[in-house]
Amino acid sequence: MRLRDVDASSGASRPTGVGELDRVLGGGLVAGSVTLLGGEPGIGKSTLLLQMLASLSTNAGTRSLLVTAEESLPQVRRRAERLGVCGSTREGDRPDGCRGGELWLVPETSLPGILDAVDRLSPEHLVVDSIQTVSDDTVASGPGSVAQVRECAHRLVQVAKERAMATVLVGHVTKDGGLAGPRVLEHVVDTVLSFEGERHHALRLLRALKHRFGPTGELGLFEMGEAGLACVPDAGGRFLADRRPGVAGSVVAPVLEGRRPLLVEIQALVAPSGLVQPRRSAQGIDGGRLGLVLAVLERRTRRALGVCDVYASAAGGVRVVEPAADLALALAVASSWSGVALPEDLVACAEIGLGGELRQVSQPGRRFAEAARLGFRQVITATSAPAAPPDIAVVRADSLDEALEALALPGPPPRMDHEGWVMSRCAQSA
Ligand code: TYD
Ligand code: MG
Repeated sequence: MRLRDVDASSGASRPTGVGELDRVLGGGLVAGSVTLLGGEPGIGKSTLLLQMLASLSTNAGTRSLLVTAEESLPQVRRRAERLGVCGSTREGDRPDGCRGGELWLVPETSLPGILDAVDRLSPEHLVVDSIQTVSDDTVASGPGSVAQVRECAHRLVQVAKERAMATVLVGHVTKDGGLAGPRVLEHVVDTVLSFEGERHHALRLLRALKHRFGPTGELGLFEMGEAGLACVPDAGGRFLADRRPGVAGSVVAPVLEGRRPLLVEIQALVAPSGLVQPRRSAQGIDGGRLGLVLAVLERRTRRALGVCDVYASAAGGVRVVEPAADLALALAVASSWSGVALPEDLVACAEIGLGGELRQVSQPGRRFAEAARLGFRQVITATSAPAAPPDIAVVRADSLDEALEALALPGPPPRMDHEGWVMSRCAQSA
């Protein structure tokens, strides 16, 4: 076909009605597309998809099929009741008088059974929860094996394309990267979504790792509550809510998750250690970055941390991996070490090099603008950073040492030996 004759509109996406999901998908689901939703067990994949199907079924005339290969029908029904999405049992009962679409369920683990249900119902949307529990007797290896998962997914992809049926496959992944099942599917499907979060926090993050119909940079934010997942369209000060002003060891960093700026509180606690090998603990922060920042603090700014335990964390259940948070982390450690709190309206944003130099980060404008919007009035950053919005003052520094000086964080006195100094400081702040 000549390129100019191709009809581009057939690949248009249709909103699912779940705002944050649509944001990540760049509009919605595309007919005939296949999406893999990966995540650890219990993170909320089934909940998200049930909410999505319920939302789709409010569009008159749409028909969806949920293949529940793990849970029984009553279990799904109970979850739907909890989510308040059971719908009316009588037709024409909706308050607006319009008839909603239909959501069908089939408890089935065999591939031929699933394909048979698809043939009979001809749904526009298909969800298979999960692909790991689906098997085909004609494939020699056992259910859950890589060969089974791949074979079944291949067949479902074919059917999705033939019928222009938007399909979502659920895949469990484990924390230690045991992705054996879903990983083999990544090149078979059009879109790979990853649903993440800390088990002990309500926050859930949805990312596109691969997306044939749009950008992969978007981040979706949800909160798991009593009645399912709620969209968090404006993250704003979401991660700053419980911040205590005037406490040493706390600095806010504007980090970018994809294209979305988030303000995250980076906390550090430096305490005297009784251990030969002092403890280093990083929660929500990359352990490698913490090691680098501590080494630079020690060698380039003479802060003796080798005799201290250092705990660092990103508050609120988000995971900060960006080097752009280096400066905030270093300042938090230096602040806790000296027992001096930093100004409340300050954000820090720069990468730290091994020479102690501060480096420019990507898209500083977005970060500064978000910080200014949320009421921060000072940003400390690298000298090469561009101008910020008028209502936020930029403090520029070439090196970490200069940054510490600009913020008047006390360092070790010139003559006292490092260990004596740090023990006295730690004793003071304890
Ligand atoms: P689920 O969607 O079953 O996870 P997955 O399919 O990824 O394994 O979600 C399970 C968890 O979510 C479970 O621990 C209970 C919690 N949950 C809520 O907190 N609120 C709710 O409304 C629902 C439905 C689940
Ligand atoms: Mg599930």
